[in-house]
Amino acid sequence: MSNSGEPTIVSRGAFPPTAGPLVDRFDRSKHKLRLSLTDRCNFRCHYCMPEDPEWLPKEALLSFEELERIARLFITRLGIDNIRLTGGEPLMRRGVADLVARLDAQRAEGLERISMTSNGVPLRKHADDLVAAGLDDINISIDSIDPERFRAMTGGGELDAVLGGIRAARDAGLAMKLNAVVIRGDNEEDIVPLTEWAMSEGVSLRFIEFMPLDARGGWQPGRVVPEREIIERLAERHHVEALSRTREPATYYRVDGDYRLGVISTVSNPFCSTCDRVRVTATGEIYPCLFSPVNTDLKTPLRDGASDDDLEHVVRGAVWRKGKGFVESAGYVQRAITMHGLGG
Ligand code: 5AD
Ligand code: SF4
Repeated sequence: MSNSGEPTIVSRGAFPPTAGPLVDRFDRSKHKLRLSLTDRCNFRCHYCMPEDPEWLPKEALLSFEELERIARLFITRLGIDNIRLTGGEPLMRRGVADLVARLDAQRAEGLERISMTSNGVPLRKHADDLVAAGLDDINISIDSIDPERFRAMTGGGELDAVLGGIRAARDAGLAMKLNAVVIRGDNEEDIVPLTEWAMSEGVSLRFIEFMPLDARGGWQPGRVVPEREIIERLAERHHVEALSRTREPATYYRVDGDYRLGVISTVSNPFCSTCDRVRVTATGEIYPCLFSPVNTDLKTPLRDGASDDDLEHVVRGAVWRKGKGFVESAGYVQRAITMHGLGG
């Protein structure tokens, strides 16, 4: 399998295997599960949220019991060893540390890592509890180090509150990565200062190319700042050296000798051929890919009393039908869902 671009492996058969690793037709096996806990968020990042979001009613969301059962199914029967809790903002849901503790109890069954993606603000309150419950690491979004630009990108978010969350996570001893979506006309000016700030803080940073998943339809190819340009801008001020690509979605660079910077270039250099993840939305739909035009309902069988065998069959089928990925759509695809309901 090549390490980037288009998956090329042909189907091994007409049906998904009934046991063994969770695989798709392109022989990509999945071992990471992303579970979205809610569509709600305290921010309104224009590249993610609709302008006036209508929140899902509580009963539409999977309960913690249901999430725990789904996690157990994926861990014990489908080879998942990494779970990332996402949103919206996952910490908008009450009692998330309890859910983390319930997942923590599944390590004996094969779970190795419990992660979360957050905008950082609620960490001021929850970082200690999350660590005590067993959270291993957190990704925090920070698109600008300038309060005005930060406010504009997040629809009114306070940079200071995020910085407070980052400090709380660090004080709690939580491993952390920062993510910054780069959008032309919004925050290319942040590439150098954000990197310099992250370097001075000794925290790892990854830039993310703007993906066509925004609820407002504002994505255009011209607004993507490609990896090459991100690196060129940095190289004007710093010594930047490419590191060889791993199976990770980010490509890494060494900046000024010892700082490691990542770039996730889904648009200019997709990593679809090595994609090892599967997503379940807050309402219990399986999305084998961010760019899937179709989803598979897991909640209805779950609530109708399906056995673990039945649920396993549903998941294996959904993953088997996974398309090639972004490389197939290569542009804006109308999906039934946007990032705030899907979790990045
Ligand atoms: N393009 C790229 N990244 C996005 N994210 C949300 N929407 C988009 C988009 N349209 C990122 C967030 C966060 C993670 C959940 O996904 O910034 O880091
Ligand atoms: Fe909230 Fe994250 Fe979406 Fe921004 S990108 S609106 S912080 S869920």
